[in-house]
Amino acid sequence: MNTYYGDLCTKVYESDKSLARNKEVDFYLSFVKDKNMKVLEPMCGNGRMLIPFMLEGIHIDGFDLSEHMLKVCQMKARKLNLSPNVFTGKIENFKADQLYDLIIIPFGSFSLLSDELVADSLTNLKLALKEDGKILLTIVTKSDTINEIINWKETNRIQCDQEVIIEYRKVEFNKETSLLNST
Ligand SMILES: C[S@@+](CC[C@H](N)C(=O)[O-])C[C@H]1O[C@@H](n2cnc3c(N)ncnc32)[C@H](O)[C@@H]1O
Repeated sequence: MNTYYGDLCTKVYESDKSLARNKEVDFYLSFVKDKNMKVLEPMCGNGRMLIPFMLEGIHIDGFDLSEHMLKVCQMKARKLNLSPNVFTGKIENFKADQLYDLIIIPFGSFSLLSDELVADSLTNLKLALKEDGKILLTIVTKSDTINEIINWKETNRIQCDQEVIIEYRKVEFNKETSLLNST
């Protein structure tokens, strides 16, 4: 599976997932018990969660595989007079040069990893934690097999600078289960 967020993918992500808000931010912030805690966000992408943490005055570092996503993160942060400490790296190869109180991976990002990368990635995170540190990650579970959906449908048009990005998805509504499957 290709999980690299290149130019187009970064633009689409940024167009509707620029900054996390409200309850989602509050949920992750609730694990920061004091402002001296050191937080790490692997797979931080465009800074959707990292920037709101910085705005709260929390020490947070981030890293990501995608230079495109990190560039957007830095540009957005600069507009808010913030200088994020973000760097390029793969979670499966990550070696920390300091220990953290809290490691967060929001938005099911950890589920992008293929099964064979999971054990090494979790070991690397554990090694980056202080003795009483915590890892907080959300995962996407799949309770059933998803049938291949045949038809592509236009689901969105995004005006992005001089470009229009047309989003196609394979969408299927199953009347019996009332489930909307999309890929
Ligand atoms: C869906 S985005 C989510 C970004 C961020 N976690 C959020 O909450 O918005 C997933 C991110 O994971 C990154 N990623 C995917 N595989 C990775 C890997 N092996 N190591 C580090 N980052 C990875 C992608 O580049 C992308 O920026």
